[in-house]
Order: sequence, then C-alpha cells, then structure tokens
Amino acid sequence: MISDPAGQSATSSPPQASVNPLGDELAGNRTAQPCALVIFGATGDLTKRKLVPSLMGLAKDGLLPASFAVVGFARRPWSDEHFRNEMLEGVGSFGRSDTRASFEALSDSFSYHQSDFSDAAGYERLAERLDEIDQQLGTKGNRLFYLATPPSAYSVILENLAKSGLSRESEGRFSRIIVEKPFGRDIATASALNEQIRQGFDENQVFRIDHYLGKETVQNILALRFSNGIFEPLWNENFVDHVQITVAESIGVGSRGGYFEESGIIRDMIQNHLMQVMTLIAMEPPSALTADAVRDEKVKVLRAIRSFAPEEIDDATVRAQYERASFEGTEVNGYLEETGVAADSNTETFAAVRLCVENWRWAKTPFFLRSGKRLPRRVTEVAIHFKQPPHHLFPDASPKPNVLLIRVQPDEGVALRFGSKVPGPDMRIRDVRMDFQYGTAFGAETADAYERLLLDAMLGDGTLFARRDEVEEAWRIVDSIVAGWQQSSARPATYAAGSWGPNAAGRLLGEGREWRKP
Ligand code: BG6
Repeated sequence: MISDPAGQSATSSPPQASVNPLGDELAGNRTAQPCALVIFGATGDLTKRKLVPSLMGLAKDGLLPASFAVVGFARRPWSDEHFRNEMLEGVGSFGRSDTRASFEALSDSFSYHQSDFSDAAGYERLAERLDEIDQQLGTKGNRLFYLATPPSAYSVILENLAKSGLSRESEGRFSRIIVEKPFGRDIATASALNEQIRQGFDENQVFRIDHYLGKETVQNILALRFSNGIFEPLWNENFVDHVQITVAESIGVGSRGGYFEESGIIRDMIQNHLMQVMTLIAMEPPSALTADAVRDEKVKVLRAIRSFAPEEIDDATVRAQYERASFEGTEVNGYLEETGVAADSNTETFAAVRLCVENWRWAKTPFFLRSGKRLPRRVTEVAIHFKQPPHHLFPDASPKPNVLLIRVQPDEGVALRFGSKVPGPDMRIRDVRMDFQYGTAFGAETADAYERLLLDAMLGDGTLFARRDEVEEAWRIVDSIVAGWQQSSARPATYAAGSWGPNAAGRLLGEGREWRKP
C-alpha cells in the first residue's frame, strides 16, 4: 500500500508512482495478459449496452487475451444462461457489426454470480469461483473488477473486495479496479471515495473512467499537438485569443430527471468530460507518453486554475434551464416539466464557464467551456480561435480570425479556417476551410471509447484514466462554482429547447467574440 502522509490534503498529495506489476513486458504490446473481468451491477444497462458489446469489439479485432472470462456479479436471481442471453441481445443491438459471432464463440466464458453486494460470503464464493475459472480457462489469477453499479453501492463493494483479499496483488498476478462516473459529487465525497479505494488498492491498480478519454478524436489532441511541429509554436497566449470547448446534446434529460436534479450539467459533464478535454488542450508537452508523465502535466493545468470567489461567479459563469418549445418537429417539455424534476428546481441544464489557466503559456488566453441539453444538435468540438493579424492590409474585408477546429463528434476531424482571395479583379477576402475527415482518411469503423478503455485497463495502462489528484482538482474548481450559484439569489436563466442557450452566455466571452454555432 502506498501511504499518504498524514495531514496532507488529498488535493496536494504528490502523485503516486505507477508501477505495473507485470513489468515492462507489456510496453508496446497491445495484447493483454489472461484475466477474468468481474462486473458488479452486471444486470444493469451499462453492461448490456456498452461493456459487453465493447469486449466483443475487442474480440473481433483479436485484442482480447487468449484466456479470458467474464463474471457478472449482481443481486437478481439470474442463471448463467439468462445472463448470456441478455448479453447476446446487447451485443446484437449495440455492438459493432459482426460481433454476435464473437460472443457466440466466447459465451462459455461468461458466467453469472448472484450475491448481495454486502454479503461477505458472496465474495468468498466469488474468490473460489475465480480460482476454478483460472483452472478451467487459464486466466492465471489476474482479476479486473468493474464497478458498474449506482455509486451508492461502491462503498460496500470496495470494503468487501479489500476484506476478502480479492484486491491484493501477488507476484505476477494483477488485481485492478475500474470505477465508473460519477466519481463523487464534490471534493469531499470524491476524496472519501478515493480514501476508501486506497484501503484495498494502490493508485496504480485504479482506473477511473472518463469515457471521453477513450474517444479517438480526444486522443488525437495529443497526436495533433505533439506529433506535428507547426502547431506548438502557436499554442500559447501570444497567438491564441481564446479557446471554446463545446459539448452540446439535443436530447433532454429524458428518464434521468431524478439523477440530473442532483448533478446538473456542471457535475454531469463539465467537471469530467469538458475539463479532461481542456487539460489535453492546455497541458505542457509530457516528457514521455507514460501514464504518469501525461497525467502530471494534465493536473498542473487544473492546479493553475484558481477557485472562484462567490462574487466572481456572475461574471465568470452562466447557467440556464431549457424551456418548452417546438423542437425537431415536436413540442418538447421544459426542464421543470420533466419527470423527477422539482417544479421550482434551480438545477442547470446548460452552463458556460470562463476558466483562466494562470501560467506562463496561457496567462491572457481564456478558456470557455459550454455544455447543455436540448441544444440544436449533438456536437462536441474544440475551437482554437487565433488572434487577428497585427496589421489589416485589406481594409474593405473583415476576415474572421483563424480557427483551428477539432471536431470530436460527430463528423470527426480537424479543420482550419483561413481567409482567401475570392477570384476576380478586386482583392476580396472570404473564409475557406482546410478539412481533414477521419472517415474519409482512415475509413475504418471507429471503435467505441469503452473498447480502448477496457483494453488499457487490462494492459495496466492508466494514461487515459483520471488520476486521483486530477479528479479532486477538478472538483475543487467546480465546487467553487456551485457554491457561488448556491449563494446567489438569481434563478438560472432560460433558453428555448432547440436554441444555442441563453443570450447571457454571449456576454461571458467579452467584446468582439462570439460563440460558435456548429
Ligand atoms: C455521460 C453523461 O457521461 O455522457 C450523459 O452522464 C451524457 O448525460 C453522456 O449524455 C454524453 O456522452 P457522449 O459520448 O454521447 O457524448
């Protein structure tokens, strides 16, 4: 166990070294060691819609270990057969093309373990069962535990994994835990959860999921920045006016009203997905592409963002709720009319925040993060807005500033906007685009983010997972925003469902800047 010096606050504790118990033999080798994956909450949606279909995507591509087993752990009285049928249905409906056959070939390696999460005997039986699986399938004592339950069950599962000894590693055998979001609801709960995890697992055994980090286009931010010579010299406050990071969704809260009331868009999206993307945009080049070198640089970005004082919140943030409107041909509910939502709720379905990274590189370049439900379309993008040239040679033209656009989804790609001469006798300038599209350039079917993340967890590579200090630093910032909102007497602004958010979001940007309407 790696110890945390007593009295040191969790946010300031130094990152713990990542030691892979299987050593360097994995470096560069993308085939994982034999292992058994135990999914807690295996009867839930995530397992059927995401986890098992993604495992079958890996199987299809030959990336699953040669010896592999899945044990579904949950309360419902399902049989092995029922579990397999459910998973097959999930793979058929949500998996990549032709993955049903992969499941059929592997279905004998799937079994179900019924137990209450709080029943110690259930974990003893699980340990015995895993030993049997090692004998039958050759999984070699390697275990990966996946917390796919509601967060309220995490604590009891973690306690039992530690008590039963299942979390312990021994020579040549790994034991790892993957934790789904939400990872706490503020810094206090996140840090308590981290402490509890630490009772059984060292930091290098822990894999905190942020599925945005598994998206190809998010990983491409590292490739774009650090495998090319032309961007990095411009990647600073001398040349970048501001950065806009947008994660827009057209769906409303649907059946998740109860959950959303407790989280709002700031906890659901900004604390994790948007801030993670932002750290990749703002970080310094890491010395190597190793888990700790990358995450050291990411966490420095978060540390360079000050917590807000309550009186700064009105100027630095905008929050709003969607209102009933006709959208995509139908009349849709306003947030306050959704099931599970209080009629006088203050929970925001849209938020925009201005974050300043107070370091040498970004001192004068604000980052604007914006996310919302019921916006006109589902789109995630990062737009780097460059400064105007110092001298305008073309007085009649008003070219827009250059923008480097990283389209995370859909329509994945990268585009550069620049001014060009319109053919003809006069010197008229118009904006044009250089456009790279993933689909056209590479053609391959893009794997789901979970495929990459499951594979990396099996490999023991934590680069694309949030480290303890990153999660807690992000909460520190978000907590200060939430505290400001709670102290304010103003209700959230409103926006019509299907619009780009409240007008107030515009003033956040300041003079001469506009939000993109992708
Ligand atoms: C989840 C949020 O983490 O991300 C959801 O809880 C949101 O509210 C989802 O809809 C968006 O993910 P993606 O991959 O569809 O952009």
